[in-house]
Parts: sequence; C-alpha cells; structure tokens
Amino acid sequence: MASITLKNITKVYDKTQTVIENLNLEIKDREFVILVGPSGCGKSTTLRMIAGLEDITSGELYIGNKLVNNVSPKDRDIAMVFQSYALYPHMSVYKNMAFGLKLRKVPKKEIDEKVRKAAKILDIEQLLDRKPRALSGGQRQRVALGRAMVRESEVFLLDEPLSNLDAKLRTQMRREIAQLHRDLQTTFVYVTHDQTEAMTMADRIVVMKSGEIQQFDTPKNLFDHPSNMFVAGFIGSPQMNFIESRVELISGEAHLIFGGFSITVLGRYSQKLTAYNGRKVILGIRPDDIHYEESYANKNSDNKINLEIKSYEMTGAKVNIYSEIDGCAVISKVDSSLAPFDSGNIDLYFDCEKLHIFDEDSEVLICD
Ligand SMILES: Nc1ncnc2c1ncn2[C@@H]1O[C@H](COP(=O)(O)OP(=O)(O)OP(=O)(O)O)[C@@H](O)[C@H]1O
Ligand SMILES: [Mg+2]
Repeated sequence: MASITLKNITKVYDKTQTVIENLNLEIKDREFVILVGPSGCGKSTTLRMIAGLEDITSGELYIGNKLVNNVSPKDRDIAMVFQSYALYPHMSVYKNMAFGLKLRKVPKKEIDEKVRKAAKILDIEQLLDRKPRALSGGQRQRVALGRAMVRESEVFLLDEPLSNLDAKLRTQMRREIAQLHRDLQTTFVYVTHDQTEAMTMADRIVVMKSGEIQQFDTPKNLFDHPSNMFVAGFIGSPQMNFIESRVELISGEAHLIFGGFSITVLGRYSQKLTAYNGRKVILGIRPDDIHYEESYANKNSDNKINLEIKSYEMTGAKVNIYSEIDGCAVISKVDSSLAPFDSGNIDLYFDCEKLHIFDEDSEVLICD
C-alpha cells in the first residue's frame, strides 16, 4: 500500500521563509499525480519532503498508514528521478543502474536480472556498456528512470525529468513514462511547470500557487470546471480569455455587457448571477469556445459579437484570431478551412454552454 497523505504540512526555510502552509493532500495507492504551478510555488519542496530530503517544519506525512516524518530517505521505499539525471559519469550505464542495489548488498545475480529487465522495458539494452557522455539526452533520461526502476519502490517521485529534452523527445518520453506507470503499478508523484505534460499524463493534477493548492482534480475537470481564475488561466492553451463584464438582469434573465456587446446567458447561470445584478464579473471563455460558423448563432438569445481582426496565427487545422475587447486581448480559435482571416471585422459566436464566470474581487468561480 503506497498511498501518500500530507496533513497540515508547513515548510519554513531558514526559520523565516514560509513556502508551504497547511498543505493537505491525499494521493491514492497507484495513482499518477502531477504537481504543476509556476516557478517557485513549492513543487520541488513538496516532493522533497515526501522523499525525506527536506525536513517538515510541521504537519504529518504518511506513506501508506505509516507516519514517516522521522523516517530517513533510504528507509522510505521511494525512488526519485531528478531534472539533472545525476548519473555517475565514470560508470557504465549498467553500473549506474546497478549501483544502488550493490550498496544494499543485493546478490549479483539478482542485480543482473533487475538491471536487464529494466533495460528491456526502457529499450536501452544495447547501451548498457556505454558511459553517460556517449548517450543522447533522451537515453540518459531513460537510464535515470532505469536506475529508479530497479529499486522496485512503491513510490516513484519525478522532478521535472523531461525539462532537458527537446520538444519531440519530450512528447515521446511522456508516453513512455505513462506506460511505465501502467507497467509498474506503483504510485507516481511528478513535478512539472508544463501544463500540457500534466494534462497528458496525470490521473489527477495538483495546481499550486505560492505554496497553496488551488485545485486537485482530474485533467478533464480542471479544464471544464476550473475553480478560480488562476487555474482557468493556467490550464489550457491558448489561455482562457478573461473579459470584464457587467451583469444586467432583465426580467429574470441575466445578460453580460462588455465592449458594446450583450450576451444572454442560460438559465443555470442566470440564477447564480442574480446577486450580481449591476455589478462587475469576469467572463471566462476558452478560445476554442468562440466560433465562426453561423450554426453557433443562438435562436432565441444573443451570443454574437463582432470583432476587428488585429492579427492571426495559422496553426494548421485551426487559426488563432487576435482581437481586442475594451483594450484587452481576446483570442478565438476557429477552423482554418472556413475563410481567409487576414483583415477586417468578423462575426463570432460564443458557445453559451461553456462560459466560466468569476467574482471580480476573489477571482473564485461563480458558475460554469
Ligand atoms: N534550500 C532553500 N532555502 C531557502 N529557500 C528555498 C530553498 N529551496 C527553495 N526555496 C524557496 O522556496 C520556494 C519554493 O521553491 P521550490 O524549489 O519548491 O519551487 P518550485 O515550485 O519547485 O519551482 P521551480 O518550478 O522553479 O522548480 C522558492 O521561493 C524558493 O526560493
Ligand atoms: Mg522545482
């Protein structure tokens, strides 16, 4: 059993700098959980506390049912892969992978079996005699993973393991790590600041900001139902548009007024917006939920806006159209086969099922 539970975990560096405060997190046995968030938000600190490489200032950390605050890293049954790989340059790939087991006095034959098995899974059997300097970045990455794998730990901790790789290799390694998780059937905790990496691999994602968990949920729920503007802006690319709007209730129906336009919202939004009548809210809409096709025009309510095309960006099947509302950038991602989008104005339709409306002050979701 390798569930991981963090209860009211606080981390203070140098007696004064609190970087994590009262963090609570429950990771299930065999789950693949990814911590994401901007640089400095405390991802590595959290991971290193789980590994035992960093003291916990206060709170309780459980692996399975065991309180491990005072258990040393080597006794935690954890394997860790770092961003820097940290391979021994003078040792062959084989020796790099075998080293930890040798230290633990595992019999030679058993070491050999484990190293070869891991090498086979990672497709590096042909590289076992090479030194790390004779390997590509992706191959070194796999050796670092292999070295962690042979430990057969119940918990696998990975801190930005793909950040040194080029885009193509990163995509490939993402799939391989996801596959590795399925093969090993162990608990994975993975740190990245790349939301695409998180979205493609994780069972659940922890979105962090300034040492606090903003939301802990499945990739789909984070995308469809972000609980505040930070999560909404962090997950998804291009980023969700945020449009300052005013709520106007007209015979019980809510309208959002911005930039000279008025959008009628659906009943489920109207109810939640009653308390905001006459007040400002932030309307969030993803670029993919703004459409060009006239079939998206609502029959009985208004969802059309007309914008000037400031610039556009061809990405293949889709075009990102850049416009402005009240001086703020708005991106719409529309089908590239539909029209030339070089200049002039364009009618666009909001998908009124996909609105995310946030409180202007707290930035917390009101309804979606
Ligand atoms: N050993 C340390 N002593 C003092 N402060 C530290 C130490 N390690 C990290 N910090 C601070 O704690 C905060 C969190 O750092 P951490 O390394 O956990 O961030 P991160 O989310 O992993 O960032 P990145 O994405 O840049 O790796 C930062 O403000 C950092 O400066
Ligand atoms: Mg880090």
